[in-house]
Amino acid sequence: MSAVLPVLSTRLSAAATAAFGTSYDPELRSATKPEFGHFQSNLALRIGNALGKPPREIAAQLVAALDIDDLCRPPEIAGPGFINLTLLPQTLAKAVNEPETFGSNGQRVVVDYSQPNVAKQMHVGHLRSTVIGDALCNVLRFVGYDVVRQNHVGDWGTQYGMMIEQLLDEGITAESLDLEGLQRLYERSRKHFDADGTFADRSRLRVVALQSGDPETRAIWRHMVDVSLDDFDKVYALLGSALTRQDVYGESAYNDDLPHVVDDLLKQGLLVESEGAMCAFLPGYLGRDGEPLPVIVRKSDGGFGYSATDLAAVRHRVNTLHADRIVYVVDHRQALHFDMIVTLARTAHWLDVPAEHVSFGTVLGPNGKPFKTREGGTIKLVELLTGAVDRADALLAGREGINREATARAVGIGAVKYADLSSDRGNDYVFDLDRMVAMTGNTGPYLQYAHARLTRLLAKAGQDATEVTELEDPAEQRLALLLTGFAATVEQVAETLQPHRLCTYLYDVASALSVFYEQCPVLSSEGETRASRIALCTATRKVLQDGLGLLGIEAPDAM
Ligand code: ARG
Repeated sequence: MSAVLPVLSTRLSAAATAAFGTSYDPELRSATKPEFGHFQSNLALRIGNALGKPPREIAAQLVAALDIDDLCRPPEIAGPGFINLTLLPQTLAKAVNEPETFGSNGQRVVVDYSQPNVAKQMHVGHLRSTVIGDALCNVLRFVGYDVVRQNHVGDWGTQYGMMIEQLLDEGITAESLDLEGLQRLYERSRKHFDADGTFADRSRLRVVALQSGDPETRAIWRHMVDVSLDDFDKVYALLGSALTRQDVYGESAYNDDLPHVVDDLLKQGLLVESEGAMCAFLPGYLGRDGEPLPVIVRKSDGGFGYSATDLAAVRHRVNTLHADRIVYVVDHRQALHFDMIVTLARTAHWLDVPAEHVSFGTVLGPNGKPFKTREGGTIKLVELLTGAVDRADALLAGREGINREATARAVGIGAVKYADLSSDRGNDYVFDLDRMVAMTGNTGPYLQYAHARLTRLLAKAGQDATEVTELEDPAEQRLALLLTGFAATVEQVAETLQPHRLCTYLYDVASALSVFYEQCPVLSSEGETRASRIALCTATRKVLQDGLGLLGIEAPDAM
């Protein structure tokens, strides 16, 4: 598929230059209704406004200057002066047949995502970050970025001092604990810390030992990290995430740079002491009480916190990873944090490339409140995902000729991912398995089924055809036109970092496909028509497969 829109845009803007002397962006868009043809432009209205002339008159002049007969039917002027363009069937066919080309833009993008915390179960917030992050990495790579994944695992901080001290107190070994055990150890140590001042003091000393590299302390910590990473890997495997151990660059990795972060900010006069802590105050950032809001770079106890780590991470990504663009896939509650980190890093001249917070809403339970267990605890991600796979498995009962286990996994996980990706990421959504696995509506299984049905049809066809040669039926044309928009859609997702646009697009393709099935017999048609329709089906299948692939969703051949 190649895009036709850019070619038409060039022609239309050439016409504007010829007729009016200045260059205009024609802002050509897909037509909002079939009766408006394929594309429409409001260029005449804008020029008319600027020149104080009736837009329909301008439109007539533009159309007269427009050299487009080789690609389109004669242009139409509609309403107040819209120019409507309808592609010739052969233009459309050619666009579908031509291979898509994507350059490499040579830029490196660093994507910070997933970011679970050591000694804690992954929860639905991490699901969102992982699913959105994976999809964005795929899309960015597809349009030519060199993608560097960074799993900013939470593996550092005062809680490890507490946990290690508790473990030593209880005389248990780190080896005896799995992730569950670690989580309970954390809970016990928290209680102990709050109740016992000497334990709290010992815990603080233990943090110092950890940060300065005391071997015994580090060994216990290392074990806690490893146990947790093993568990995260299991979730990534079930989820089919692209993340590996190589992508883990946790908070601890920045430990050595933290003092330099402080020194450098001090030198630049950007830090002040406030109640014993070293803080940066940025103009315009005020708390709810109207008081200036600090970025706390070093806490009053001398420890470094979350902000210091993120500042060091910016430096690492710019200086060592050579990022041309940085993307943080983190929930919306951290918006202010990233806003301040980015502003401070720019003020300190550490950051001169785009840095975007890809923020997302909350996953809600059936009651419309943030998704928790009945006791208010976090729901284990693995349990949610296994539940989805079981549900998909039940759905597939009785189907023949499929690998039930692999298909159930693809469908269940695909359903969860698609539900997460398909609405604007800023919105909250309810985790509703019944809706997610439904075979109708804008769901993952619906798209997977469209793909599987096409695969079966093509297998039955007993004929390979790759050239679309005729597009007579409006249903064929509509489908073909949509297919030519694939690249533009992916480019748009790479730019806006909004995966739901790709979902909407794929859903439109699947919907146009089902209208096509109704209107245009494929296997029972003959000769040229049959071959051309098979080619259109082949192209559609590829778009569905590639599109789902970009979303991180498997497309089984049968289901
Ligand atoms: N680990 C954090 C959490 O679970 C998210 C980390 C986000 N990334 C970052 N660079 N701060 O909330």
